[in-house]
Amino acid sequence: MKSEIIDRFGRRIDYLRVSVTDRCNLKCIYCNLDDFTLLEREEILTLEETARIIKLASELGISKIRITGGEPLIRKNLIHLIRMIGNISSINDISITTNGILLSEFAKELFTAGIKRVNISLDTLKRDRFKEITKQDKLNNVLDGIETVLRLGFEPVKINVVVIKGLNEDEILDFAELTKRKPLVVRFIEHMPIKEPHSYFSLRDIKKELMTIGELITVSTLKGNGPAYYMKYKNAKGVIGIIAPMSKGFCDNCNRLRLTADGRLFLCLMSDTFVNLKGKMRNGGTNKEIKTLIKDAVQKKQLSPTESEGKKIIWEPMASIGG
Ligand code: 5AD
Repeated sequence: MKSEIIDRFGRRIDYLRVSVTDRCNLKCIYCNLDDFTLLEREEILTLEETARIIKLASELGISKIRITGGEPLIRKNLIHLIRMIGNISSINDISITTNGILLSEFAKELFTAGIKRVNISLDTLKRDRFKEITKQDKLNNVLDGIETVLRLGFEPVKINVVVIKGLNEDEILDFAELTKRKPLVVRFIEHMPIKEPHSYFSLRDIKKELMTIGELITVSTLKGNGPAYYMKYKNAKGVIGIIAPMSKGFCDNCNRLRLTADGRLFLCLMSDTFVNLKGKMRNGGTNKEIKTLIKDAVQKKQLSPTESEGKKIIWEPMASIGG
């Protein structure tokens, strides 16, 4: 029989996000990387350790994996890990979230190794602004990456746009226009505060803006397991999504766990509660013990971030907990 992990609130936990590095080849202003220290190399799980955790989690009921970072494509031999994951019979979906800088270089290998779904983080279509946000003059690499994955047949290709007040809200319509011409899924994400609360551009603001250039039809049949809500313009090739962690939230049907690059399992993006799987593993923990640790951790998953943990604030650097 297929195993299942169900938490105390009846949510079926079948999705594990795996951060393979806390390093990134960009320095985006909202990531606040300078506020956090990078992990020592030996703190980072080896690919074999990562694959072992995924295998054990899959035996419990995890069937979907997303590779994240930092920037996952800078992890050496990532393809080897993806192949190992691909060989786990009960994993039926592997996807990746990348900033796209190295995508045109790796797309083909990723595709062959079994990744068909890709999310690309891109907050601006303007070269100068890209440089201002990321400290790198590499917008064209990302745009090339997008063209490459479309050409190779990745599906869906999602573009994640974090809408940041005063920074890129004036580009919402440019991104929306893209969906009229290309089979892309452009998803606008409300900006979540890291460590301190802030004011944000909300779902309602975004939607109001989108409706100025056409009528939006709700789309309910998009592949994926995310919390986005999808719409499209009439006759458009692509789709628009909005992810509203701030104004809406989606804890009720949360199905995910997060593994950091240093082997801690987080139960929620907005909570600082975790279990240290690496510690157990490096102390000679058996498969059974590690599985018990994962199972017990899931039973501690909260319905939503509690007040005491500070509602809707991210405590870990995004680069380590994996977006
Ligand atoms: N709020 C919302 N989304 C964020 N991301 C990174 N930091 C934040 C934040 N503070 C997004 C990235 C990426 C995804 C994994 O998370 O842009 O697309």
